[in-house]
Amino acid sequence: METSKFDIDKITSQKGRLAIVTGANTGLGFETALHLARKEMKVIMACRNMVKAEKAKHHILRKLPNADLEIMKIDLSHLKSVRDFAVDFLAKHNRLDVLINNAGIMVPPYIKTEDGFESQMASNYFGHFLLTGLLLNTIIKTPNSRIVPVASIAHKKGKINFENLNFEKKYSPTAAYRQSKLACLMFSYELQRRLEKAGLKTLSVAAHPGVSITDIGRNVPKWMYNIALPFMPLVTHTPDKGALPIVYAALGADVKGGDYFGPKGFLEMFGSTGKADSTPLSLNKETAKRLWDISEELTGIKYSF
Ligand SMILES: NC(=O)c1ccc[n+]([C@@H]2O[C@H](COP(=O)([O-])OP(=O)(O)OC[C@H]3O[C@@H](n4cnc5c(N)ncnc54)[C@H](OP(=O)(O)O)[C@@H]3O)[C@@H](O)[C@H]2O)c1
Repeated sequence: METSKFDIDKITSQKGRLAIVTGANTGLGFETALHLARKEMKVIMACRNMVKAEKAKHHILRKLPNADLEIMKIDLSHLKSVRDFAVDFLAKHNRLDVLINNAGIMVPPYIKTEDGFESQMASNYFGHFLLTGLLLNTIIKTPNSRIVPVASIAHKKGKINFENLNFEKKYSPTAAYRQSKLACLMFSYELQRRLEKAGLKTLSVAAHPGVSITDIGRNVPKWMYNIALPFMPLVTHTPDKGALPIVYAALGADVKGGDYFGPKGFLEMFGSTGKADSTPLSLNKETAKRLWDISEELTGIKYSF
């Protein structure tokens, strides 16, 4: 796709179609939900904090009084919560056109979740791995469905450290974030390979937003944030623009399974949407398969392919 060709205004009405956006109460998830609602898609805002979710829903309704929105509770850092969400969702809905795995955290202090995961690996990657697996049968039954894992330019410096996957030996907040985002991207590619092998039409399409100032910076030390802040407008774009590669991955024409979209400006930090750069490691099939097998074991989901 040529970068100049993505014009969100050209995406036609999505009435009758259903999307889940995780982490839709703020930042890129909120803007993604807003873009989809503008296209008349029904959007399930899957959030961990119902007070914030309710406020976000009303924020969208003030802009789009006819928006079809539903809020549902999910804490992606807890496998039980992900399972409960899937049970609730499947009891109410028999289709899922688009699953956007957006929720995430960045560089928090070390926390081991009750499932034994490092918290960034839990929220950004393992929770979405389980969620996708639990919803997969419904997604693949839905015509023209897509799964959109949200990655980051941070994947480029990421490594999958199988010996210390949950940072129990030594914790680096940055390495854990990079690893979690690399894992999301590898998951997207591996999922597409498996969908294709099984002859299924659902597409797995990854996206990253570039850089946008959002609550993701909440764990960045204040002094660092204050130094960077004056330069940020030069190398970032607003969250509504950051959401565009995600929306393109979800709804764009000419999208193929296994594609990866992001902004094409300086170092992919901002700009118009196009094909994103992916490191050789992110495309490594053996590492992706090993990660997949471990993820099935650790989350307790067995994919049907
Ligand atoms: N902003 C950027 O420059 C940037 C760059 C590259 C990639 N990304 C990726 O884009 C995605 C969205 O980030 P953002 O910038 O929009 O961050 P954000 O403003 O902090 O929003 C993150 C969202 O995820 C939710 N969330 C976090 N942990 C969760 C959990 N365990 N269960 C359920 N929801 C959870 C948050 O809920 P609460 O509000 O309740 O905390 C919030 O709704 C992330 O995957 C991030 O890695 C962002």
